[in-house]
Amino acid sequence: MKLAKSIEEIRADFPILSMKVHGLPLIYLDNGATTQKPEQVIQLMDQLYRSANANVHRGVHFLSDIVSDRYESARETVRAFINARRKEEIIFTAGATASINAVAFSFGEKYVREGDEIIVSEMEHHANIVPWQMLCGRKKAVLKVIPFTDEGLLDLEAYRSLITERTRIVAVTHASNVLGTINPVKEIVAEAHRNGIPVLVDGAQSIQHGVVDVTDIDCDFFVFSGHKVYGPNGIGVLYGREKLLNELPPYQGGGDMVATVSFRQTTYNDLPFKFEAGTTNFTGAIGLAAALDYLTALGREAVEEREQALLASATAGLSSVSGIRIYGTAPRKVSVVSFLPGDIHQYDAGMILDKMGIAVRTGTHCAQPVMERFDISGTIRASIAFYNTEEEIDALIDGVRKVTEMFG
Ligand code: ALA
Repeated sequence: MKLAKSIEEIRADFPILSMKVHGLPLIYLDNGATTQKPEQVIQLMDQLYRSANANVHRGVHFLSDIVSDRYESARETVRAFINARRKEEIIFTAGATASINAVAFSFGEKYVREGDEIIVSEMEHHANIVPWQMLCGRKKAVLKVIPFTDEGLLDLEAYRSLITERTRIVAVTHASNVLGTINPVKEIVAEAHRNGIPVLVDGAQSIQHGVVDVTDIDCDFFVFSGHKVYGPNGIGVLYGREKLLNELPPYQGGGDMVATVSFRQTTYNDLPFKFEAGTTNFTGAIGLAAALDYLTALGREAVEEREQALLASATAGLSSVSGIRIYGTAPRKVSVVSFLPGDIHQYDAGMILDKMGIAVRTGTHCAQPVMERFDISGTIRASIAFYNTEEEIDALIDGVRKVTEMFG
């Protein structure tokens, strides 16, 4: 599978990639934290504020109509990108975290009672733990956790044994932001559905790496953030199965989510507006659609193939550095490598790599239970995007080797 553009053309689309840091070319390997933005998104955002700015869904005038049309067409772009059945199933939120909080609140209000159980996994990002813990606190429900193996694979046997007649929802990540593991979400969903339990899939670390098809996965909720998929910050998506979304109460009240308001009674708007109170981040949504269009035009299978090749090089190269430990060795991974070079503290290593122009993330990656599982205080994480090059991966490996030599 071939990308629609050469790597030179792709890199030219991302202005920040030609930047220098500490006098050296930037090698940006922190794409799991946030991705860089192509000109196509940057210019569109600029153009929106210059010539297409008015409040969405609020006016009959020229500009408001333009924005409303573009916003609704962005919703259609998202629907097609994740292969949801209906546009009404796409809710724009502030990000994956906001989407999970929305489900935890609305679903929790409707369906979770004292003594009920919620299942998450040990490899979740804090965003897919804390909202459920907060719900459990409010409702006196119980949080149960699917463990993972040393390789970083979810223990599916344990998962099956955690399901009881009190399980109300399963919330699991599609891909781990630390280990890279791509979880068998279809299997996880099928098992939950056999027991009549809905499943939320956190797609924050999967959507940018390949083709995601929510109809095929058959999940009930799917969430992701715009900024991790080459789009703007502060925009995200909550996909929800229409039937469920219709059953759930809104989690925020305000303008646009209502049909009628009086002091006696308020009635709510239809989907998706019921879950979009107030002025939404409409420019963000339109920018996100431009980012998704960019990926589609590039070829999503080709993006995945390129990233997998870079991941293989990074894994092989880093493994050859003496004393290195890699965390997350599952056979199916997104392009993320977490590692520790011997006993060198991750922050020290990260700071030295930074001086070489290499941006990696260090610390717990908002996934402290993963660190607890391995009894470590953090890792260094290189997270790779399709615009990275083999030379950059070589520079990372070289840099890590130098760090280990410096510390003897
Ligand atoms: N969740 C983001 C990461 O994994 C910030 O780095």
